[in-house]
Formats: sequence, structure tokens, C-alpha cells
Amino acid sequence: IIVNADKLTAKVQPTMWGVFFEDINLGADGGLYAELIKNRSFEFTTPLMGWAVKGKKIAEGDVLVLNRQEAAENNPRYLQVKVKDAETPADATITNEGFRGMGIKKGLKYDFSVMYRQASKGLKLHLELQDENGKSVGSGILTPNESGIGWNKQSASLMANTDIKKGKFQIWFEGSGSIDLDMISLFPANTWKKRPGGLRADMVQMLADMKPGFVRFPGGCIVEGRDLANRYQWKKTIGPIEERELIMNRWNTEFKHKPAPDYFQTFGLGFFEYFQMCEDIGAEALPILNCGMACQFNTAELVPLDQLGPYVQDALDLVEFANGPVTSTWGKKRADMGHPEPFNLKMMGIGNENWGPQYLERLAIFTKAMKDKYPNIKLINSSGTDPDGARFDQLNNAHRKNKADFIDEHYYRSPEWFFSNATRYDSYDKNSSKVFAGEYAAHNKNEPNGPNINNWRAALSEAAFLTGVERNADVVNMASYAPLFAHTDGWQWSPDMIWVDNTSIYGTPTYFVQKQYSLNKGTNVVDIKKGNKVIAGKDSLYASAVIDQNKNELIIKMVNASNKAQTQTVQVKSAKKLASTAILTSIANDLKAVNSFDDATKVSPTDERIDVKGKNVAVALKPYSVNILHIALK
Ligand code: AHR
Repeated sequence: IIVNADKLTAKVQPTMWGVFFEDINLGADGGLYAELIKNRSFEFTTPLMGWAVKGKKIAEGDVLVLNRQEAAENNPRYLQVKVKDAETPADATITNEGFRGMGIKKGLKYDFSVMYRQASKGLKLHLELQDENGKSVGSGILTPNESGIGWNKQSASLMANTDIKKGKFQIWFEGSGSIDLDMISLFPANTWKKRPGGLRADMVQMLADMKPGFVRFPGGCIVEGRDLANRYQWKKTIGPIEERELIMNRWNTEFKHKPAPDYFQTFGLGFFEYFQMCEDIGAEALPILNCGMACQFNTAELVPLDQLGPYVQDALDLVEFANGPVTSTWGKKRADMGHPEPFNLKMMGIGNENWGPQYLERLAIFTKAMKDKYPNIKLINSSGTDPDGARFDQLNNAHRKNKADFIDEHYYRSPEWFFSNATRYDSYDKNSSKVFAGEYAAHNKNEPNGPNINNWRAALSEAAFLTGVERNADVVNMASYAPLFAHTDGWQWSPDMIWVDNTSIYGTPTYFVQKQYSLNKGTNVVDIKKGNKVIAGKDSLYASAVIDQNKNELIIKMVNASNKAQTQTVQVKSAKKLASTAILTSIANDLKAVNSFDDATKVSPTDERIDVKGKNVAVALKPYSVNILHIALK
């Protein structure tokens, strides 16, 4: 293998390797958004979904869900509880089951808050974290100290004394009186950056560890919605959380996979929080907006062209929300939420998986408006989901003709497809629109350990494919695997990069491959060949190389997709000297191997030091392995 370290063939964009986030598989509510109470504001289609009402002293009509539509359009429902002479937990309780139970950690503080209204004082709320059988594992008391006609907010804390995987939360009422309750909320105190009402820290940390170049959000199909009424509208996801109107999640009734009738989007994780998370982890924000079309896999609902105005305005206003001065209408809203500095948004997607002439017509209107007002914002155009189909080519050609900044390609294909597509981008026009490989994953239908499982074979094929993506970093400027997260007890789609339950998390083999690419992206692609040809599958070998000019380091990625070990001699042609030893990071395993909660790093990298002889390094590549060779230049 010859590496021409002085022959820089492409610049690697800082955005090259990113992540795709969607609220699918309990990704946000029940996942990244750390709220433990399901249906905290009684707005689910079934108003008491997630809640159980019980007690000897609760008669019919004592606990009601009331609707004040006129007074609070976005959050009309609340719970009214009337109790007389309640003395023990057996008298009057409401219990929340959590999303799939609640993860409770010993020694951790839990922050409870509630909005309430009571004409007069008289009730005490006993708060209890409980195990599955209803045994208390932590308690607190909240005595509502305001009365009158207005709503109040009050908080209390509880400490858990036991680890529980699937706990629940109970309020039992003591005393006599009537109280209205809304936004009943419980968060662990250990959220990301300890932000009240924030994100699950272990999940954000997994992303931060990858140092992603960008975060694409909020999806995915939820951008489009099953119908336009249920499309994602970013303006409804900012501001005080009690004013964020929830909608049914598009994955609530997914028919192909597991339905989850309790799957709603509360938008506690809304656009402000997405921008903030991006900033926290050093990633560019890449929001995707609805283009006036609902999900074409479900319905062909479109907004007529002459009514597209509000959709376009949403896109323009988003730039102002992210970047505008605090004196601007939307910049002020950002400042009011605690972030007067701009978020420095640079790009935006128009449409998710949309296609056809209807898409092109709508896209043209968005593009004109955006480029007129914000010429520096790069726009991402969709090219659908069939990477080998005529529709895909047609759309890509149209986008190229229109000089699109980025074309968003999606492919969920077999591992074989990924292996054989390592040369996919070699033939793309380097001077045309850039590619954003916005959603991809190897889907393996016929595995001995189950279909669509994140095993090593899938990750190995993705790694092989990504050598071709990296080699063509002047065409592909951004790439993200999808979907990102899945909850083991509530998912619609598999494979996924990271799996969680209520208290634990693990990265799949795919996660470790993605992380290696991201952490080792370098600054420039350098020429790497064997027999003067790109290394893209011959002898089951795939390779690409980058140089990191900041660290003065050469990074060579080699994938051995065969069941046999092979030793390759890498010869580096460079004006600079090489260090006398190199670090070889490798991931190798059986094709069937998977990670799990019990064995979270079974498939993960190990490092070894190997000798460099002058300008040559002999690298032993294990069977089925992904290898990253780091050679310092002197
Ligand atoms: O990643 C899961 C889904 O796959 C996304 O929501 C959609 O864009 C694609 O079809």
C-alpha cells in the first residue's frame, strides 16, 4: 500500500462526521429528554394515559380532567382532585407509570414540580418514588402554600435509596380540599450540565464523546408528520414548557414495527434545547424543516403553493431565532430563553424524504426566499430513499442543475450493498453540489442472531463504505448514521446506533466505528493506493487516509472484510520523517458479535504500538477488522 502523504486530494470539512437525531424509538420523550412523568399535562389523546387513580376515599367525580380550551389553547387540560379527610396512602393516590417505568438511582436527588391552583389551603401532597411493587424507595412532601384563583408553581425534592430499573411515582393526598394540578413533573438532578428540566446526561455524553461535526434534528419523518397538522413546527417548541403544545408522534402508530400508542412529542426538548446541545458538544446545528409536504410514505398531503408563505416564513424566522440580534423579534425570544449570543446557524434542510415535481416547486420558493435574505445559509435538498433508483437520479440531477448547496442522500441497505458501494462517490462530479449522506445504515435481514441487528457484520460493512466516503470528502461534506437512539422497551425501528434502557446505555459496534471515523477525521484526504488503484474491495481490503495538519499526523484507515488475517506493508511517501513507532487502533470480532447492556464494549477498539521501519510499516490486520493507524510525522 502506498500512501502519498504530500498529495492532498481533498479538504475534510469540520462537519464531516455528524449525528442524526429523531424522536423515534423513544429518542426524546422517554429518552434524551429526562422527564420521568408520562403525560404530565394530561394532553395525550386518552387524558389519563400513564396515570392510575386509586383510594378508598375517592368517589366517582372526585378526580376529573378538565379542559380550559379558551384560557390555555396549548395546554388546555388539567387534573382536579377533591379529597375529604384523607389520612393514609390508601385513601387517595395518583400514580404515574413513567414511559416504560422510571429509572431510579440510589443516592440521586429527584426534582418534583407542579403547577397548581386551590381556592383554599387544606391538602398536603406526599411524593413517593416506588419500585414496581409499590414499595417506597424515596419520599418527600409538598405543601401547596398559595391559594386563590391563579396558578402557582412549586417544587420539592426526593432522594432515592435504592436502584430501580422500572419504578413509578405516586402522589398521595392528605387532608381535605380541592386542588387543580398541571405539568406534574419529575426530573433526576443529574441531567446534562445539571440543567433543571434538562437532558439525560449519559445519552448526551455518548454524543459528546464522538465529537460530532454536526447534529441533524429533529428528524426524519417527524419533520414531515403523518399529515400536515402533525408536522414538526419549531415555533411551537420554544418558550415556557407549559405553553409548548404537544402532538402525537408520527411513530405513535407505526404499522411496520411496534406501535406505541402512548408516543407523543411534548417538545420539552425543543429547538432552543437542540441548539444548546449542539453548542455544548461543539457540533454545528443542522435543522431540517417541513417543506409544505407531509410524509409521502403515508399520504400525499400538500400545502397549495399559494399557501406556502407561513412555511417559508418559519424557515426565515428560524435564522433570526438562531442568529438574529436580541432586538429582533425572534432573536429576543432566544435571549429571553437565556441565550442572548447567537447560535451561529449556518445551514438548514428543506424537506426530509421528499420528491417529485411538487417537492421541486416548493423547494424553489424556499430557496429563493432564503437566498435573497440570507445568502450565506447553505440549504440541504432531499433526494429520497432509493439510492439506485431512477427517481433518485432524476432528483439529484435536478438539484445539481439548480446548483443545490447540498443533496441529502438516504440509504438503508444490506451489508453487501455497503461493501460494494465503497466506490459510489468516486464517480460523482467534484465540482457540483455537495452530498450530505444524511441517513444510512446497514440492514441485515438474514442474520443468525436476528434481522436488522447491530452486529459486527453491519458495522464492518459501514466502515468499508465509509473509506469511500472519506476518500471523496470533496464530494461528501457530511455524513450521519440513522437512527441514533433506541429504547430497548419501546422502539419502532432497528438497527440503531445507541441503545438505552431506563438507567443504562451502550453503543453498538456501529457506534464505535462512527466514533473512530469522527475522532480521526484529520484535515485533508491524502492519496492511498495499491497497485496504483483505490483500495475498495479487492482482496476484501478497503482503505482511505487523511493527514491531520494540526497534529502533524497521518491517519490510515484499513478494513479487512475477509475471514483471514492479512499483513499489509504500508509505504509512506512524504517529505517528512516518520516517528519510529505508530499506534494501531483496531476493532475485530466475529461477524455475529453484538454489544449489550451486560457486555457494552465486547466489540470496541483496542490500541497497540507497532514499529515503523524508515518509511514502511507492516500492519497485521486481523480477520474482520477495522484498523486505524496513527503515524506521527516529524
Ligand atoms: O431513520 C428512520 C427513518 O428513516 C427516518 O425518520 C426517515 O427519514 C427515514 O425513512
